[in-house]
Amino acid sequence: MAIEIAPSILSANFSRLAADAKAALDGGGTLLHVDVMDGHFVPNITIGPPVVASLRKALPGVILDCHLMIENPDNFIPAFADAGRVGFPFTRKPARTFIARCSSSNPMAANPVWLSIPRLPCTRWNEVLDIVHHVLVMSVNPGFGGQKFIPAALQKIKTLVEVRESLGQSFRIEVDGGVALDTVGDVVRAGAELLVAGNAIFGKGDITENARKLLQAARSATLTHA
Ligand code: DX5
Ligand code: ZN
Repeated sequence: MAIEIAPSILSANFSRLAADAKAALDGGGTLLHVDVMDGHFVPNITIGPPVVASLRKALPGVILDCHLMIENPDNFIPAFADAGRVGFPFTRKPARTFIARCSSSNPMAANPVWLSIPRLPCTRWNEVLDIVHHVLVMSVNPGFGGQKFIPAALQKIKTLVEVRESLGQSFRIEVDGGVALDTVGDVVRAGAELLVAGNAIFGKGDITENARKLLQAARSATLTHA
């Protein structure tokens, strides 16, 4: 499956958000990862529906990969309906009902919902893998950009690849946190295809060039994939 870079706007300069986002897309990013945090579910506050709506207007065709790290995502489904995709931590119950509600409110895609799996054991994933677009493996503790990649995420990615194969399913695998030039090879070789990157793209230097180099490094790792 094709490798895609999802620039995480959390590390962008918010005073020129659309321009930074566009620069990252010019470098080869194909969707924008948008971290929505409420200061309760995770220990940080970021952005919410108004910023998502503004981005939608500024960049009409781009999928906004909204990562909801908020206490009551059920209350906010309509606010993110235009985003393109929404993801939530796999702790919601009953997950299938929640996913069905999200899917039916979103006009932009057939299966716009994804799951993030910070710590849960593999066995429960099976409940919903057939109806999600992708599964996101957190590779840092959620809350902040610019953290160090947690290597244990690699095994989770590999396990997901095996689960997908054994169940004959087609969900994609995303990785989020600490993805940079020195870690991207490992995550791609483990089997991740959607690569979220914030600090590595927006942290320092030229945004477009950073995105381009990261994508290039990811593609080279695919070529060396056994
Ligand atoms: C962390 C967020 C990540 C974050 C990744 O809770 O979910 O999306 O922006 O940032 P980097 O790539 O800087 O680790
Ligand atoms: Zn995220």
